[in-house]
Amino acid sequence: MTTLEIRDLHVSVETKEGAKPILRGVDLTVNSGETHAIMGPNGSGKSTLAYSLAGHPKYQITSGTVLLDGEDVLAMSVDERARAGMFLAMQYPVEVPGVSVSNFLRTAKTAIDGQAPPLRTWVKDVKTAMADLRMDSAFAERSVNEGFSGGEKKRHEILQMELLKPRIAILDETDSGLDVDALRVVSEGVNRVRANTDVGVLLITHYTRILRYIKPDFVHVFVDGRIAEEGGPELAERLENEGYDRFLVNS
Ligand SMILES: Nc1ncnc2c1ncn2[C@@H]1O[C@H](COP(=O)(O)OP(=O)(O)OP(=O)(O)O)[C@@H](O)[C@H]1O
Ligand SMILES: [Mg+2]
Repeated sequence: MTTLEIRDLHVSVETKEGAKPILRGVDLTVNSGETHAIMGPNGSGKSTLAYSLAGHPKYQITSGTVLLDGEDVLAMSVDERARAGMFLAMQYPVEVPGVSVSNFLRTAKTAIDGQAPPLRTWVKDVKTAMADLRMDSAFAERSVNEGFSGGEKKRHEILQMELLKPRIAILDETDSGLDVDALRVVSEGVNRVRANTDVGVLLITHYTRILRYIKPDFVHVFVDGRIAEEGGPELAERLENEGYDRFLVNS
């Protein structure tokens, strides 16, 4: 059983005009086995939350705490966070020229587990996971994300999730830019990890489309750097129909 506990998190981003506050008191608890959807208008700070949890250096934590099973996540390096079982699938995955997908995955797995995965089962695991995600095996020898289409990058993120088996997975707009078939394939990948492990998922999305495949236990509405409302899956349907107007008018 794993618990990620975010308490009164305030985060600023460095800009030319100085530090600009983005997150203004986020409270959120994710337990293993739970899926939390985070929805909210553009610019409300959803990706900022994801990057802050992953330890991106551009985001300054000005106050608040993040604990993973009582351990201070904010005191951990990016590597330590990954080893502790935190995983971030980025909204805009970066290209890593010269590093093949196959090498990248093996290096990441070795770093996280503290030992190299046994070669025979590993090669089979990678092949199976790629086939499940309908990824051509040729991708294994291509440079990470270089020249990948938007949808291919998203599949590659879920491939990592399937192989690295995180305790807490933060998926930032994994559904953006996917066609209907890819959306289903990627969602099935996330659901396989949910079924086979006790992962806790933080799913950032704009659309309820993906929530038809990946059923959330909780929905949180992000507005202006904090959570403005929380509820169950029915809240997502309401947002889809009504939009965010009622939150923005009062802010
Ligand atoms: N380096 C930066 N300089 C200035 N402003 C920034 C910087 N990084 C983030 N911001 C601002 O922080 C706010 C929150 O951005 P963030 O990417 O977290 O929003 P989001 O909720 O993920 O939006 P979207 O739904 O469009 O992905 C935005 O107004 C953005 O312009
Ligand atoms: Mg974003």
